[in-house]
Amino acid sequence: MSRLNPQDLLTNNRKWVEDRLAGDPDYFEDLAQQTSPRYMWIGCSDSRVAANEMIGLAPGQVFVHRNVANQVKHADFNCLAAVQYAVDVLKVEHIIIAGHYDCGGVRAAMQSRHSGMVDNWIRCIRDTYMKYRPEFAGCTQESALDLLCELNVRQQVENLSHSRIVQNAWNRGQALAIHGWIYSVRDGLLWDSGVSRACTLDVEPVYRVSPLSETSAMPTKNSDLTFFDAVNS
Ligand code: CO
Repeated sequence: MSRLNPQDLLTNNRKWVEDRLAGDPDYFEDLAQQTSPRYMWIGCSDSRVAANEMIGLAPGQVFVHRNVANQVKHADFNCLAAVQYAVDVLKVEHIIIAGHYDCGGVRAAMQSRHSGMVDNWIRCIRDTYMKYRPEFAGCTQESALDLLCELNVRQQVENLSHSRIVQNAWNRGQALAIHGWIYSVRDGLLWDSGVSRACTLDVEPVYRVSPLSETSAMPTKNSDLTFFDAVNS
């Protein structure tokens, strides 16, 4: 692959705009109107995993959140804020948690060396390993890594289904499914791990939350920028 500098990227951008407009003069006007994606994608930050391209969706059709090893943690306000906006405001119907084989984050979780801040981030992947430890019997190092990449996706689907955001949506009758998919960087294929959850009954009773009171305030999609008005008046 050729070595590009930042100026080349801006040049590429102008070419990309020209190409889009050549195909459809209204491309960007239409895109600007598209604010209701049906899908949310939670994926790994790995640069080899292109979020919307490989599932055939154009910009505007998928709301994306990415972090190292596609984690959904109960105290990660970055991820949860994105999920809440996607569920409560955009009303996405599907959240795809997409892991991938040969994930550097999962690999680092299986190693003892010091990798820095990321060690704290991925420590819980070892918990997933311990939870499913018998399933690793007979694995080679590489097949163990593949298996842990799959189980990591399954764990994140469970974590997300345990969240109040998702269960509140289900309790008010909103259609929402969480899927666990895994991508192979070797052949480009995505696979459904068969761990989808689509209602409260899919959640273990101990993780179910009581329905939210109907009087609670919900964020709205087109609320006025009251803070902006207040500080600029
Ligand atoms: Co990864």
